[in-house]
Amino acid sequence: MEQYVIKGGNPLVGDVEIGGAKNAALPILAASTMTDETVYIENLPDVRDTNVLLDAMQAIGVMVKRTERHKVALNSGNITSLVVDTEGIKKIRASYYLLGAMLGKYKHAQVALPGGCDIGCRAIDQHIKGFRALGAEVVIEHGLIKASAQRLVGSHIYMDVSSVGATINVMMAAAMAEGVTIIENSAKEPHVVDLANFLNSMGANIKGAGTDVIRIKGVPRLHGSEYTIIPDQIEAGTFMFAAAVTKGDVTVKNVIPKHLESITAKLLEIGCEVEEADDCVRVVASKPLAHTQVKTLPYPGFPTDMQPQITVALALSKGTSIVTESIFENRFKYVDELTRMGANIKVEGNTAIIDGVEKYTGASISAPDLRAGAALVIAALAAEGISTVDDIKYIERGYEDFHLKLKNLGAQIELAQTEKEFQKFKLRVG
Ligand code: EPZ
Repeated sequence: MEQYVIKGGNPLVGDVEIGGAKNAALPILAASTMTDETVYIENLPDVRDTNVLLDAMQAIGVMVKRTERHKVALNSGNITSLVVDTEGIKKIRASYYLLGAMLGKYKHAQVALPGGCDIGCRAIDQHIKGFRALGAEVVIEHGLIKASAQRLVGSHIYMDVSSVGATINVMMAAAMAEGVTIIENSAKEPHVVDLANFLNSMGANIKGAGTDVIRIKGVPRLHGSEYTIIPDQIEAGTFMFAAAVTKGDVTVKNVIPKHLESITAKLLEIGCEVEEADDCVRVVASKPLAHTQVKTLPYPGFPTDMQPQITVALALSKGTSIVTESIFENRFKYVDELTRMGANIKVEGNTAIIDGVEKYTGASISAPDLRAGAALVIAALAAEGISTVDDIKYIERGYEDFHLKLKNLGAQIELAQTEKEFQKFKLRVG
């Protein structure tokens, strides 16, 4: 079984290059099926979730040509099936983006019910409500969501919750509906804006993405495009907190600093120095970390996808901190693992009360999901002694070359497949 073996204690120092945003790439890949012409995507992250989606697209007849590691050409002119039901696709959340995309173009689609990280109840009622408002019939049968319509007609849709997935799905379907759709209380995350920009580059007419109200004037057809995906806000934030936790000095390159404002604000509050330039951010942690309070919120609030990473930092800070998770109710599962490394955290409902400790100590831990897995790796990098992190398949869903990028910053981390490799690492690091 693959695991990371880590010897903690080295401050991370140097530069790290951030890849394309996974959560923008997934809907953009799905939306490429909305034209018969070729779409060229750059800055595509080479991570498990995007690769699973590309495999599923290939299985329904999309021509997928990876011209370079981070570039792909896609042609959906000869799609052979509107049923997406591969084994892999059930494991990723973004499978349902093919529903919105294909419903928009073909007025019919069937997709296996989505999986994804187990971080709490992940309802899809707002997606279904949106599709129905556009005139589609939606049923769930035999593990598939089936959506079909004679015609899709623009509508006024109020989202009961700010949902990234539902905003994206409805935006895609509405892009090729007749007339105007208005989505109120839409999600404002950078990846929602990136998808809108991509659809507009294909000839869609979408205004207001990034605000609470998105206005979509449907068009009868979309055309090919060349598009570069935005940098990954969460990958960047993870490395920024890795610098803080290991008392390092890291310049995170190829980022949009505006997308990182809530993360930067919290790093400043806990005593780090943060320097911003046009497309990079430097984080220096030279003082002991201070405690703070944080509540996860939709963008531009502090992202739920950064909640485990900030908790790992606060558990090493002076004093008592409070972290409130307001998006997903089951996102503190990693706390037990962190406790095994010496953290002092009590979880009550959606709140973690954290009494800072002086240090972590190495332990054998498992990644319970993608972001928590990355956060536990950061904890291990700061811990005294050796740790092993299992179930790294979760981390690989969304971080490209995670351990290699960390290693490049001076971390003592290896990917070990066997006990022998683990022993070799132990001997080497002493
Ligand atoms: C997206 O998930 C991301 N996934 C998640 O990232 C991220 O944590 C989340 O947005 C919040 O930012 C992808 O982009 C593939 P939501 P999504 O719909 O779209 C409720 C990661 O680590 N809700 O914005 O599934 C829901 O229960 C992953 O990269 C409904 O009630 O999230 C939640 O409480 C994990 N009904 C809240 O809205 C619905 O129909 C926000 O969920 C839809 C959602």
